[in-house]
Amino acid sequence: MRPVRVGLLGLGTVGCGTVTVLRRNADEIARRAGRAIEVVRAAVRDPARPRPCVTEGISVDGDARALVEDPAIDVVVELIGGTDPARELVLAAIERGKHVVTANKALIALHGNEVFEAAQRRGVMVAFEAAVAGGIPIIKALREGLAGNRILWVAGIINGTSNFILTEMRDAGREFADVLAEAQARGYAEADPTFDVEGIDAAHKLTILASIAFGIPLQFERVYTEGIGRLTAEDVAYAGELGYRVKHLGIARRTEEGVELRVHPTLIPERRLIANVDGVMNAVLVMGDAVGPTLYYGAGAGAEPTASAVVADLVDVVRTMTADPGNRVPHLAFQPDALADHPVLPMEAVETAYYLRMEVEDRPGVLAEVARILGERGISIEAVIQKEPRAGETHVPLILLTHRVREGRMNEALAAIEALPPVRGSVTRIRLETLDAGGQ
Ligand code: NDP
Ligand code: HSE
Repeated sequence: MRPVRVGLLGLGTVGCGTVTVLRRNADEIARRAGRAIEVVRAAVRDPARPRPCVTEGISVDGDARALVEDPAIDVVVELIGGTDPARELVLAAIERGKHVVTANKALIALHGNEVFEAAQRRGVMVAFEAAVAGGIPIIKALREGLAGNRILWVAGIINGTSNFILTEMRDAGREFADVLAEAQARGYAEADPTFDVEGIDAAHKLTILASIAFGIPLQFERVYTEGIGRLTAEDVAYAGELGYRVKHLGIARRTEEGVELRVHPTLIPERRLIANVDGVMNAVLVMGDAVGPTLYYGAGAGAEPTASAVVADLVDVVRTMTADPGNRVPHLAFQPDALADHPVLPMEAVETAYYLRMEVEDRPGVLAEVARILGERGISIEAVIQKEPRAGETHVPLILLTHRVREGRMNEALAAIEALPPVRGSVTRIRLETLDAGGQ
């Protein structure tokens, strides 16, 4: 049988990684797929730039549109990133009956409903394993391996750049900007690295995970998103004293009232495996009603780890190319006409525990006033630390851990605390999740 001919849109970090892995493991890949898989054409922005990963047999030019329209190409692999022109190119490839593989989480999170509908109509596959958690096969695990479960919640470290920055800042005391520059040089960061540090990339990935876990449409605009930019070394250290690590988590949880979709820094007990996932590594913890907790761990970014997922998708596509489209695994795990319309909860309705830090005047009765405000709103305190005053300082850091409470109730309490004369400035709040079997 003739080889399957692949056209690559983009030959950057992931594009070159994909060419390298396909070439190095060509024999094993062909034995798995049943046919050889060859990259025959690639489109880039600047075709004049030398690219060491390109070898004989791959023609490179700057015409992405011509590549998707080329009748000699069987599968288009989109590794440009962003939504424009990626969306148009992917839709054009689908329209021409080509299967698509992409690592583009922004495209899937923002335009996936449209893309999958077009693919369904045309009977082609759009595979996107590399879009979430780099090399970890989490899409396959959720969509197929856990298909017998009712998924209760998913919590993941799903941005390698943020985790790399947090780890280096904590362990090596390095500056934020310096670590970010290294993440960019290593090819981990997005073209616009604010997507990494402001949580947008993680929100794209969470959108996809939640859709596959709960069988709901992709709803990026409903995700509450907070990045790592406001975390301080001081809070990371206090969290450590209390037995917690601070991680940037994406959390999707099913509740009686609706679905929680949120991305934010989170305190996690340091004894949890996921609390010890460091550097560029990602991990996704999934709670299924039958299986209980399962944890998926691996490299969340980088050329070859991401290529591993892209190539696995290519193998999947090649294996099922000739299968009846109705018998393929649905793009979003659930049959397209069986997606549920569970509402996504506003953040005020989400229930979590909290870490609170405030600067308070060092005099008797202040802690009691703070505790009264919390108590009046049914918020119970789990732990308190009050630090010694620094030389010449009238105020001291007061750190509290609370039990679970609705965010709306906590917002009211924080407004009242910040209005107390002995409290200086605003209260720092970091959400806390124990990630135990109940997801509490
Ligand atoms: P890079 O910026 O390294 O590469 C992008 C490539 O796309 C470059 O080759 C660029 O050309 C090309 N390109 C850009 N615009 C066009 C265009 N209009 N027409 C043709 N080619 C174009 O990105 P990455 O490889 O890092 O990321 C690719 C995708 O993979 C993104 O969606 C990203 O989110 C995703 N991803 C990345 C991971 C990583 O670790 N880097 C991990 C998981 C997913 P030129 O080289 O000439 O500039
Ligand atoms: N910029 C992303 C990250 C790449 O750092 O996780 C992997 O999706």
